[in-house]
Amino acid sequence: MPRAAPTIRIEEGDARDLPGVAPGSVELVVTSPPYPMIPQWDESFRHWGARTYPEMHERLAEVWTACHRALVPGGLLAVNIGDALRTGDDGFRLWPNHVDVERACEAAGFRPLPYILWKKPTNKPNAFLGSGFLPPNAYVTLDCEFILLFRRGALRAFPRADLADPTAGTRRPNGIGGSRRSGTMSAGYGRDRSAAARARSHRRSLGA
Ligand SMILES: C[S@@+](CC[C@H](N)C(=O)[O-])C[C@H]1O[C@@H](n2cnc3c(N)ncnc32)[C@H](O)[C@@H]1O
Repeated sequence: MPRAAPTIRIEEGDARDLPGVAPGSVELVVTSPPYPMIPQWDESFRHWGARTYPEMHERLAEVWTACHRALVPGGLLAVNIGDALRTGDDGFRLWPNHVDVERACEAAGFRPLPYILWKKPTNKPNAFLGSGFLPPNAYVTLDCEFILLFRRGALRAFPRADLADPTAGTRRPNGIGGSRRSGTMSAGYGRDRSAAARARSHRRSLGA
């Protein structure tokens, strides 16, 4: 039977509070937060009382905690984030935002999953050797961002009626992953052996 179209509700507010979002009510969070150490987002962080790199990530950590609270067990969080290059008191350096977001989300209770590396094409012909071909001053520029993926807790077990493929549960929608027939486990979801065992037991209880 065709499902009813979902309703859409737009809530405007601070992502650290999410007052209109009930705990444990969200299946998926997709977000692109203000990036620490990118001048475009300095004002957002100043508004949060954050001026230094650690303070910026402390504020973002409050967002990850709010996301963890909002997600259902097994719910997913996708964070688009890029690293930053900036000259501070110590001179020019990399600010590895993706590393700090990985750590902060793990500390907030998330289980880190393999990330997507988003290669952003650059139209700068000198992107790799930014100073030209003079080796002493050659530098590499940033040309990618990250879509970091996390799950709240273990895999969800879906009711049989929701599954197009009755062997799903250890298998990803693209067909990659473990199956009962092959008894193999691939990287990513398939490696979550306890969740796979729970999915098998769930199927057994359904008579599958
Ligand atoms: C990197 S941008 C993402 C832009 C987004 N992908 C888009 O296409 O509009 C960061 C966004 O975070 C928003 N933002 C800043 N502080 C926020 C807060 N406390 N709660 C929720 N969003 C916030 C900014 O307004 C901005 O739109």
